[in-house]
Amino acid sequence: MHASAKRQTMPDVNPANLDFYRDVVTGLRASPCQISSKYFYDQRGSELFDAICELEEYYPTRTELGIMTRHAKDMADVLGQRCMLIELGSGSSLKTRVLLEHLADPKVYVPVDIARDHLHKTVRNLSSEYVGLEIVPVCADFEKDFAIPVSDTETHRRVIYFPGSTIGNFEASAAESLLERIARWVGPGGGLLIGFDTCLDKAMLEAAYNDRLGVTAAFNLNLLEHINRELGADFQLADFRHRAVYDEAERRVVMWLDSLCQQKVTIAGESFHFAEGESIRTEYSHKYDLEIFRQTASRAGLMLSKYWTDDSGVFTVALFTVGE
Ligand code: TRP
Repeated sequence: MHASAKRQTMPDVNPANLDFYRDVVTGLRASPCQISSKYFYDQRGSELFDAICELEEYYPTRTELGIMTRHAKDMADVLGQRCMLIELGSGSSLKTRVLLEHLADPKVYVPVDIARDHLHKTVRNLSSEYVGLEIVPVCADFEKDFAIPVSDTETHRRVIYFPGSTIGNFEASAAESLLERIARWVGPGGGLLIGFDTCLDKAMLEAAYNDRLGVTAAFNLNLLEHINRELGADFQLADFRHRAVYDEAERRVVMWLDSLCQQKVTIAGESFHFAEGESIRTEYSHKYDLEIFRQTASRAGLMLSKYWTDDSGVFTVALFTVGE
């Protein structure tokens, strides 16, 4: 893919979308080209993701939810009283509810998500279900620093909840620096309760990202729709096709959008050419080995306290703490 004529002037995009625009064009100028998976989550993307979580083939959500349901009491006991619970990429806060049911006198819940409307809708629902719990939503891209707009005076410790194997969507070095930032956000005595995928079965993994109903395909293609709407682009969705493959050597599922023909796409006035068969990488989903994950976290200053898995070991929820 090549970009024609570099632009000298400011692009014609809403200033609120400048980071989005820069990330997209930088990714498309790279080789092989890529678009960050965080841009999946507009309102429709968030809804499609919720639908993925209910698919027969998508085992991670129900497996993690099963682990939470079975062990939330134990997790809550280890976390102790008066937590500030901060969730990264909270989406519909489905698993969080299980944790909130068991936590002793949680002080405040801070859901952090990039999808503003979906975040506020979730908070409206939660507030009616958990009367008395202070909920402070933060609409932010957690790859960047953001302020936590609540005081710590009444809280015993900060705990970051990071479920859904979202950590797997980062490449190794980015995952490690995110873990370092998490250790800094929670501070000494703080915790990280994190869910990650420990599945090794290629067939099971490929089915999970290539469901029969085509929901994952619609979710992947919706990324182009999001770019069309927010950045004034003209991607033809029918000219791209979803593909997801498990790379055993790298232990990750890689998702692509393949160009079905030679085509030109314009984004805020700039043209991008795609050859037939050329692919845009839209997501990595890394699968972990507990011991390797433990070592990575420990380099970031997070020590493994306890972990929980399902009977077949395809998913793990682990609690890490920062030394005092
Ligand atoms: N964190 C989830 C995962 O890696 C996100 C996800 C699930 C996802 N299914 C997807 C992202 C399909 C893009 C497409 O499993």
